[in-house]
Amino acid sequence: MLANLPLRYKEYLRQEYSIPTELISVVEKGGSLYLYGKVGSGKTYTAVKLSEYIKPKHKYSHQTGKAKGIFINADEMFHQLSIPENKPVIFGKLQNYDYIILDDLSLGNWTPAKQESLFVIINKVYVLKQQIIITSNYSPKGIENLDNRITSRLSEIGKFFEFKTERRKKWQ
Ligand SMILES: Nc1ncnc2c1ncn2[C@@H]1O[C@H](COP(=O)(O)OP(=O)(O)O)[C@@H](O)[C@H]1O
Ligand SMILES: [Mg+2]
Repeated sequence: MLANLPLRYKEYLRQEYSIPTELISVVEKGGSLYLYGKVGSGKTYTAVKLSEYIKPKHKYSHQTGKAKGIFINADEMFHQLSIPENKPVIFGKLQNYDYIILDDLSLGNWTPAKQESLFVIINKVYVLKQQIIITSNYSPKGIENLDNRITSRLSEIGKFFEFKTERRKKWQ
């Protein structure tokens, strides 16, 4: 079960392009992923498809036999988190999921507050043994230059994977 998935990306669940088997085995083993590469290279598609391979961890998701995840657009999340009273609510809510897909992390308009929020989220994933799949058009090096706590936590819980093929479908 993947909450909050936008209509456009729901279609991805019905498409049948193959995804890298090494990524399937990472998520099956409980690992997290940082998928990066150019726009249109299939990062969001892969993240959404990988959700089907994530195993349930929490007690309540064991009852349904399905992992419970939430899809969040990164900019939208940072915007919500910029409202102080939202913070504990959002961080609290995220704890209820087995996995989080944080889509389209961009380093534009980067602020110390965003950096701190991202670290808090990744750190919570780490301590609560959740899984996170981040998609971004920035290489891990770009993040490391900003805050190496983020990349070092990420490398403890998962893998970085670069998408190299550009294949965005054009409108007509
Ligand atoms: N392996 C693939 N072969 C062909 N098309 C693909 C493949 N993976 C994804 N796509 C398509 O490519 C388009 C862009 O994918 P998307 O994952 O949204 O890109 P990104 O998130 O990297 O910008 C979508 O229309 C998707 O259906
Ligand atoms: Mg995308």
